Amino acid sequence: MDRAACQRLDQEDPLSRFRARFMSPKKDTIFLDANSMGAMPVTVPERLTSFCTDQWVELRRQGWTHSPWLQRPGQIGDAIAHLMGAGEGNVVVSDNTTVNLYKILTYAWRARSSGTLILTEDGNFPTDLYVAQGLGHAHQDQPKAHVCSSRSELVSRIGADTAVVYLSHADYRTGERWDMADINRRAHAAGALTVWDLSHSTGAIPVDLIGDDADFAVGCGYKYLSGGPGGPAYLWVHPRHAEKGWPTICGWMGHRDVFAFATKYEPLAGAGRHATGTPAVIADEIFFCAAEIWQEVDQNLLWAKHQALGDLTIELLEQECGPLGVTVNTPRDYRQRGGHIGFSHPGAGPVSEALLEAGVVGSFRRPNSLRFGLGPLYLSFEDIWEAIARLRQILEDNRWQDERFQQVSV
Ligand SMILES: Cc1ncc(COP(=O)(O)O)c(C=O)c1O
Repeated sequence: MDRAACQRLDQEDPLSRFRARFMSPKKDTIFLDANSMGAMPVTVPERLTSFCTDQWVELRRQGWTHSPWLQRPGQIGDAIAHLMGAGEGNVVVSDNTTVNLYKILTYAWRARSSGTLILTEDGNFPTDLYVAQGLGHAHQDQPKAHVCSSRSELVSRIGADTAVVYLSHADYRTGERWDMADINRRAHAAGALTVWDLSHSTGAIPVDLIGDDADFAVGCGYKYLSGGPGGPAYLWVHPRHAEKGWPTICGWMGHRDVFAFATKYEPLAGAGRHATGTPAVIADEIFFCAAEIWQEVDQNLLWAKHQALGDLTIELLEQECGPLGVTVNTPRDYRQRGGHIGFSHPGAGPVSEALLEAGVVGSFRRPNSLRFGLGPLYLSFEDIWEAIARLRQILEDNRWQDERFQQVSV
């Protein structure tokens, strides 16, 4: 594989037209951090300016009726639903991921048929683990979080005492993906429900919530989905659970008739009841710029390109940097891979600092792993070639050992 072969892949790429829909950095920087923060849609600056001048200044409170502020969460949810195999009307955009995890895990706990355990694994993201542990303190019927130390332990541990199996679809460190259909099957056979965190999946790898028979899902908006820094998160409830009870937080946006200002709470039909209070209107406006792009994207082409970018990254890391001490940690089998490629090097921290100086933005996780998150809509195959050529240079000339790279940022 060489640069010319990568350029040929770019010429044949059916998604290449989407690159121009995102801002390119002024400097010659290659951003490989889609697993942390996605690129900005080009429409954001103008949209925000017109939001401020035409809506906030001119409309003020009338914006609630004359602008789609209240409709945006549903519009965004519908625009991204196909990326996760969720039906329209079932994806609710609100709050942040942690709050949605709390809302949904509690709801799932109450909707369970039996069991006393929330079963998870230590590869789950810390906030996910904390939310599960916190539930044990917050509720009288004391759900207990059991944190398995390996994937095989989790699979063998699913049993009659399991109430909810609670996992991140793709591991935030290694990028390892769970077989969602298999876990859903095992959980249901034991009478348990499943809650999936899709933060490292949606917008990158195939997700089929209905087809794989999941129960609940949550994910963030700011990574692959390009919803903007601190952008709102989303949640999904399988329609069979949508009417099972009141939401965890009974807010007015989840009321059957918001502007009736009724004294008594009555839940909205469907998943919309999990909306809480006033939507984050400005943040939604930013996320909506990305949603306009997503609704045009054929998810099968997206997933195929993501797979090809991942295969190329692994091949080039091994070909160009394997002899220089790089080991790929992410599974080779695409069906087991998440949105990013993880690899290790004994000097990973200083290497990631040297990469930043060379204009390659990945991320570092202690003690010795690096991650390249692959955003299929705006990354080219040649970008991957160039990024790995720069990595090779840093390793070859031992630049990463310079004093100035030893102070490592997170
Ligand atoms: C898998 C996963 N879940 C949850 C979060 C955090 O969610 P939030 O800060 O939006 O609550 C992250 C953040 O990186 C994450 O990677």
